[in-house]
Amino acid sequence: MPRRTYDVAIVGAGVIGAAIAHECASRGAAVLLIDRGTPGGGASGAAAGMLAPCSEAHTPGPFLEAARESLALWPSFAARAQADGGIDPELTLDGLLRVAPDADAATDVQARLRWQRETGIAEGTWVDQAEARNLEPALSADVQGAAWYPNEGHVHSRRAVEALVAAARARGAEVRHGVAVGDRSTVDAQRVILAAGAWLGDLAPRFGGTLPVRPVHGQLLVLHGIPRPPRRVVFAGLQGYVVAKRDGTVLSGATEETRGFDTTPDAAATERLRTQAAGLIDGVDHATGVHPWTGLRPAAPDGLPLLGPLPGRDDDRVLVAGGHYRNGVLLAPLTARGMADMALDGRTPPGWSAFDPRRLG
Ligand code: GLY
Repeated sequence: MPRRTYDVAIVGAGVIGAAIAHECASRGAAVLLIDRGTPGGGASGAAAGMLAPCSEAHTPGPFLEAARESLALWPSFAARAQADGGIDPELTLDGLLRVAPDADAATDVQARLRWQRETGIAEGTWVDQAEARNLEPALSADVQGAAWYPNEGHVHSRRAVEALVAAARARGAEVRHGVAVGDRSTVDAQRVILAAGAWLGDLAPRFGGTLPVRPVHGQLLVLHGIPRPPRRVVFAGLQGYVVAKRDGTVLSGATEETRGFDTTPDAAATERLRTQAAGLIDGVDHATGVHPWTGLRPAAPDGLPLLGPLPGRDDDRVLVAGGHYRNGVLLAPLTARGMADMALDGRTPPGWSAFDPRRLG
């Protein structure tokens, strides 16, 4: 049999790699998606799947703009994946409450709303305690008020990876798992896209480049059996949020620690995440089953995504799609579209200079 040549070979089948595979295959490219483990077995499989640009961005700038653009793409992105592969990624855009548990936090949340309005972001509004509880009856009585973002939400991250892999396959992509780069066989491809999350730093030298990506350990808690799970995302801070999935499972997240590639769950973190969830929503004491998920967020030194040619090489045959840190799920649609433009048409999306991996020197 003649050896197959791919237009694009993508290394890493998390939400980013799978989304790029689906996009490139949908545009008619011959695509190979490979993963050394199972699709979604890294950070994507341990993510709460929040789509929360206005809480994840701390300042105006390219990250916030990209995050908002990607959020706007999510409905058609999810619909296309489901139509092609038959799996529902469970996109839920029922809004997010950025809650203030005390008066100081209320001042901070209101200051955040002010700069967002000054930047032209009008969708967030302040709601007092009564309004917040009206919007989300599961909200704890401790909450003083909240910023309400009606267009934000979440997706089922594991399901999203399954949906994208199935959709990519349906569009003709070849998916191989349990295959590490460097294993006996070689692959002929016009372009390679490295989308290996926290492992990009190890992978880059095999392709003649370097990438300073570090793993940031995150643990979240999965709670089953809460009688009235919240309908909205309840977000108190980067390490304090609660998201309920359609089957009633409640996720309480998440820790952030630097400890290499260790993914062992921590009993103290489990306790903190449970106590924290109980401070945000009612019914946590009734949970009948509790277990941790852990994953490694892939972070660049400046915390911004790495989207473009692999630094250290003098061509653009090897591209990077990584460094999404806390927001791979949110940024997947935009990343997929832009990486397909780059890999298939040689076009860099406008506004992506801030994400060029070569910025890191
Ligand atoms: N996006 C939420 C987190 O990384 O914890």
